[in-house]
Amino acid sequence: MSKGKILFQLSGSIACYKACALISKLIQNDFEVQTVATSSALEFIGRSTLEGLTGRPPFVNLYESQRAMDHIHLSRWADLALVCPASASTLNKLALGLGDDAIGTLFLSYEIGHKPYWIAPAMNHKMFLHPATQDSLRKLQAWGIKILYPETGHQACGEEGPGRLMEPETMYAAILKHFSAQGPQIPEKLLDGARDDS
Ligand SMILES: Cc1cc2nc3c(=O)[nH]c(=O)nc-3n(C[C@H](O)[C@H](O)[C@H](O)COP(=O)(O)O)c2cc1C
Repeated sequence: MSKGKILFQLSGSIACYKACALISKLIQNDFEVQTVATSSALEFIGRSTLEGLTGRPPFVNLYESQRAMDHIHLSRWADLALVCPASASTLNKLALGLGDDAIGTLFLSYEIGHKPYWIAPAMNHKMFLHPATQDSLRKLQAWGIKILYPETGHQACGEEGPGRLMEPETMYAAILKHFSAQGPQIPEKLLDGARDDS
């Protein structure tokens, strides 16, 4: 039985490979995962990796044939939306409400404040501490979005500071805790039966 439906959104960061470890862990533990990727994310990992891990093709292009309403359907489908890794650019775009790609458009169609929306930033420490990024983080949190704060340490650029993506194991533990607190997921079939009886 599915433990929950996760809309797993990847943007263009070197940490995309770490996000794949989390996706794999979620699938192995009976979560349903639908990935969404920006075109930059696909510079770091391939469509085949995301489809191979989840059994579902990633949602990338809003205008793709057969997916015309996925920018609404996937928001409705998800129990939890996660942006992981969130690049500085995507994080700042979300805070502005820009719907110029799949992640931004899904964000605008998501029931913010009613369903959980989590963001896991990953970036160079100067990008993370930039006033634009810090303002966006404050704004997103005020809207009820949970920030999975990055860790401090060695970065791919060779510098040290805050901006390393939270470890996949730590994020997995937070997701598991969230769904455990929600109680068991009710199978769709039972819900349909309940609707029929009313
Ligand atoms: C090798 C490489 C690594 C990058 N790593 C990051 C990163 O970790 N975090 C980040 O915010 N941007 C990073 N960038 C820059 C983003 O990919 C760039 O800002 C891009 O426009 C983000 O697009 P997106 O948010 O639509 O995915 C990196 C760029 C390159 C070339």
